[in-house]
Amino acid sequence: MFHFAHDEEGRLCAEGVDLEALAAAVGTPTFVYSQATIERHYRVFDEAFRGHPHLVCYAMKANSNGAILRRLAQLGAGADIVSGGELYRALQAGIPADRVVFSGVGKTKDEMAAALEAGVLSLNVESEPELAALAEVAAQRGQVAQVALRVNPDVDAKTHPYIATGLRESKFGVPLEDARRIAADVKASPHLKLVGVDCHIGSQLVDLEPLMQALTSVLALVDDLRAAGHQIHHVDLGGGLGIPYRGEATPQPAELGAAVVAKMAGRPETLILEPGRVIVGNAGILLSRVLYVKRTQGRTFVIVDAAMNDLLRPSLYKAHHEIWPVRRTGAPEEVVDVVGPICETGDTFARDRALQPVAAGDLVAVMSAGAYGFVMSSTYNSRPRAAEVLVSGDRWAVVRARERLEGLVEGEAAPEWFE
Ligand code: LLP
Repeated sequence: MFHFAHDEEGRLCAEGVDLEALAAAVGTPTFVYSQATIERHYRVFDEAFRGHPHLVCYAMKANSNGAILRRLAQLGAGADIVSGGELYRALQAGIPADRVVFSGVGKTKDEMAAALEAGVLSLNVESEPELAALAEVAAQRGQVAQVALRVNPDVDAKTHPYIATGLRESKFGVPLEDARRIAADVKASPHLKLVGVDCHIGSQLVDLEPLMQALTSVLALVDDLRAAGHQIHHVDLGGGLGIPYRGEATPQPAELGAAVVAKMAGRPETLILEPGRVIVGNAGILLSRVLYVKRTQGRTFVIVDAAMNDLLRPSLYKAHHEIWPVRRTGAPEEVVDVVGPICETGDTFARDRALQPVAAGDLVAVMSAGAYGFVMSSTYNSRPRAAEVLVSGDRWAVVRARERLEGLVEGEAAPEWFE
């Protein structure tokens, strides 16, 4: 079931909403999300693990819009957070603190204090200095911090180097061979309690094998830690499940779930999963209007009103995003470059792409933009951030207004000596 599809008349709809009408009302560029798709993805993922006690902690870095978080909270999701800002958003959206895990190599003491104040399920610690800082903060507050140790299982996730995190040379996690010693340090501190072991080997994984290898290593460690007297409450396998960006076959949550649940059979630990992209990636598009079609010798540039500041993935990772015309005519495709207005050659959504001929004023949809889209957007070139719209059936709502020009300069001030 696809919630972004062309109807019989060739009009692209998000669920029951005609995107031409939506663009006329809200303007462009605009991120459009399908509530039904998000809900389906969440449920399919959650059900894939129903054979074992588990908690789905949505990796909100993928898309932290408050409406999406609120809906996921209503469905029972927890959150994987990586900053004090994400903690704030998660709590605002009604995600219970005891369903929140806090990841990241560089938590500040203020962020640790906020997490302890809220009562998060665990702080996933990634180094000894971080552990020492956490012990200090917890001691000052007279609390016992619940710690999960993030280990680096040293497996090759076979994904883009920028989003692979499980190799020995990456900055993430502690080496497996140091984990027992660090666990002993945790035990020695009256202000720390080891409750879990955690890993996350990378993102956009299209091969389950490295994930299963990582789980094997983590479970062996958990067995050792149990033998050493630690009561491990949970095993956190991180996120990373890949999604189809161009209709390719990717592993289904059910496959991952079946394999993981089988491996966990009879074990007492709760499973934690931190999916991000697989929940929201294909639940969103970036709706954009064609400004100009520029023909130079040998190349045709379709210049659209969205740019790399709105969706950075093609520029940063050379990521492929399908581009669909919002009104399909059936005319033979031509080969074009789809580019934004920003003053950089890297501001290119697609190069040498076969696209139905479009003209100024036409709309296009950059597909699979629900994950790592708006959240990675900036105001580069002083372009206000795009609006975000959530669709449900034939209803739609602006869930974040387009940034206003005033927003661009908010907080700026000229120094007093200018007077
Ligand atoms: N847990 C941890 C600790 C993570 O670092 C990440 C993603 C996730 C979970 C969620 O991974 P997912 O299920 O979404 O693959 N900006 C890049 C992706 C960066 C991912 C960073 N960590 C992109 O646009 O492809």
